[in-house]
Amino acid sequence: MKKLKVGVIGGTGMVGQRFVSLLADHPWFQLTVIAASGRSAGKTYAEAVGSRWALEEPMPEAAKDIVVMNAVADKQAIADQVDFVFSAVDMKKEEIRALEEEYARLECPVVSNNSAHRWTPDVPMVVPEINPEHLAVIPAQRSRLGTKRGFIAVKSNCSLQSYVPALHPLKDEFGLNKVLVCTYQAISGAGKTFETWPEMVDNIIPYIGGEEEKSEQEPLKLWGRVEGDHIQTAQTPAITAQCLRVPCSNGHMAAVFCSFDRKPTREEILARWAAFSGKPQQLGLPSAPKQFIHYFEQDDRPQTKLDRNLEGGMAVSVGRLRPDSQYDYKFVCLSHNTLRGAAGGGVLLAELLCAEGWFD
Ligand SMILES: NC(=O)c1ccc[n+]([C@@H]2O[C@H](COP(=O)([O-])OP(=O)(O)OC[C@H]3O[C@@H](n4cnc5c(N)ncnc54)[C@H](OP(=O)(O)O)[C@@H]3O)[C@@H](O)[C@H]2O)c1
Repeated sequence: MKKLKVGVIGGTGMVGQRFVSLLADHPWFQLTVIAASGRSAGKTYAEAVGSRWALEEPMPEAAKDIVVMNAVADKQAIADQVDFVFSAVDMKKEEIRALEEEYARLECPVVSNNSAHRWTPDVPMVVPEINPEHLAVIPAQRSRLGTKRGFIAVKSNCSLQSYVPALHPLKDEFGLNKVLVCTYQAISGAGKTFETWPEMVDNIIPYIGGEEEKSEQEPLKLWGRVEGDHIQTAQTPAITAQCLRVPCSNGHMAAVFCSFDRKPTREEILARWAAFSGKPQQLGLPSAPKQFIHYFEQDDRPQTKLDRNLEGGMAVSVGRLRPDSQYDYKFVCLSHNTLRGAAGGGVLLAELLCAEGWFD
């Protein structure tokens, strides 16, 4: 199979670096363009990123000499060179919304990590194991944009990437009706390291702007359904969230409490988690974890440092499932925020789009 040519818009940033790293040896996609702001444009990728390289693994050799383009000024030239782009720019929300639509109108599909289009009614927000059927709204979006090929598809926020997968296989079967979640989120989620955010050493900050709203509302779009030209969001379950920034480099943990119309047994929950497999597993997508949800019986797992890289950082780790005195059950779960929660989730979504012919 001929590889599709791919651009990374915002490729010099924290999430962009993950995209560049994941695309270095990708079997279906060829990293062809890296674009960022005017500050980086015209420099080689190695020069533009310099000491900002934040990953443990070294910068891919093949990316080092790519000359960074300007994501805004060079749109047409970028769209001409690639089959689709990943978007991970950090700009004002209205600017991102406009920029991504401009790429789509240039017939260059956009797989975005940004929140700007998550609530655009005809933009599918997809976790490939959970709601792959939402891609069916793309023809309606193309018709609004007046495009033949171009469209925007987005992934959901990193904060919910651990608990929505854990709740999903229980939701319909047992009538999930109420969820309380507290998240413990790593500093890379703010595009930072301990070098660039020293105030986070030995510290917790009990506020992440906009994160609680996203954590409460985005699951309802994921659990919605395509109705004509838009996604109709689900009405239940009721979700309340508190999101804290904690001194970890990578990995978002969540403590979850949940109640059901028909309370399952602990064994029923464990069996549903063990059996949960979605379209990425069925299609054998290259970035799909073999086992999406891993349950740990040990009381002190999952741990951020030990378990965030499970299955290449694409699996979800769960532990401590037990009855609660006010809700039916409580448990903890973990997912890698810049892998499954950001770039890895974006790459998996692009693989699904590719496998289903949306880039043809
Ligand atoms: N970090 C996470 O875990 C995570 C998870 C989910 C979603 N997100 C979202 O993903 C996006 C990127 O996050 P990040 O953490 O990677 O941010 P980041 O490290 O600050 O990187 C921002 C990127 O955007 C580029 N950029 C900034 N202003 C630009 C402009 N005016 N024109 C073109 N490019 C511009 C930067 O280029 P220069 O290097 O040239 O400045 C850089 O490539 C954000 O919207 C964030 O909310 C992040």
